[in-house]
Amino acid sequence: MIIYKEESYEKMSERAAEIIASQLMMNEYSILGLATGSTPVGTYKKLIEMNKAGKISFKNVKTVNLDEYHGLGPDHPCSYRFFMNDNLFNHVDIDKKNTNVPDGLASDGEAECKRYDEVIKSLGRADIQILGIGENGHIAFNEPSDHFSVGTHIENLTQSTMDANKRFFEDGEKVPNSAFTMGIGGIMNAKCIILLANGEKKAKAVKDSITGKVTPQVPASVLQLHPNVIVIGDKDAMKFL
Ligand code: F6R
Repeated sequence: MIIYKEESYEKMSERAAEIIASQLMMNEYSILGLATGSTPVGTYKKLIEMNKAGKISFKNVKTVNLDEYHGLGPDHPCSYRFFMNDNLFNHVDIDKKNTNVPDGLASDGEAECKRYDEVIKSLGRADIQILGIGENGHIAFNEPSDHFSVGTHIENLTQSTMDANKRFFEDGEKVPNSAFTMGIGGIMNAKCIILLANGEKKAKAVKDSITGKVTPQVPASVLQLHPNVIVIGDKDAMKFL
């Protein structure tokens, strides 16, 4: 595990974007696993800048996102498909046909999970999987549990996750209480995983995940078992390391 403690969110984002850009320079056909939420926004901004400057291209890149709220469609401003279009895809030379996010409106949830696992399988191992981390140690929407889930599944969100994500929703609008999420197996299958964390609120989750015991009660702790993880955090998130 490589750990970078950066001075600021800006520096964290720069570091992550540089690593992702190097991957795209080495292989223009890279497969990227992507995350949403506030943490990777700065990284995506830097990648957009590099793309606009002609340093990297997404023309042949394929992407697979971690998760999507159950019940939200692509036009809903809080859906993760909307987020990805708005924060990355609409601003770079990617072919949206090469981007994948679970279908939050799928009427048959189980069939959607199966379909998404087929997508993941058909793409092959992601070259880089980007992750944020929940205050409770969740990765994607794999919440603390008594077991690690392997495949894509529908997860009931914990109150702490719904509370943390309230900030993205209009006043009075309810945060969906379930989501489609890639399983821990899908995440661990990536060749390289970049875990990003910023802000003091993440400090305990980062410490427990990296220095604590491996347990599904702290889903991100499973990353200790992956041979190629890069943790990049700002100094507040990394203060216990
Ligand atoms: C989002 C995702 C989540 C977030 C986590 C942190 O696709 O998978 O695990 O990474 O909830 O969210 P932020 O970055 O908003 O603090």
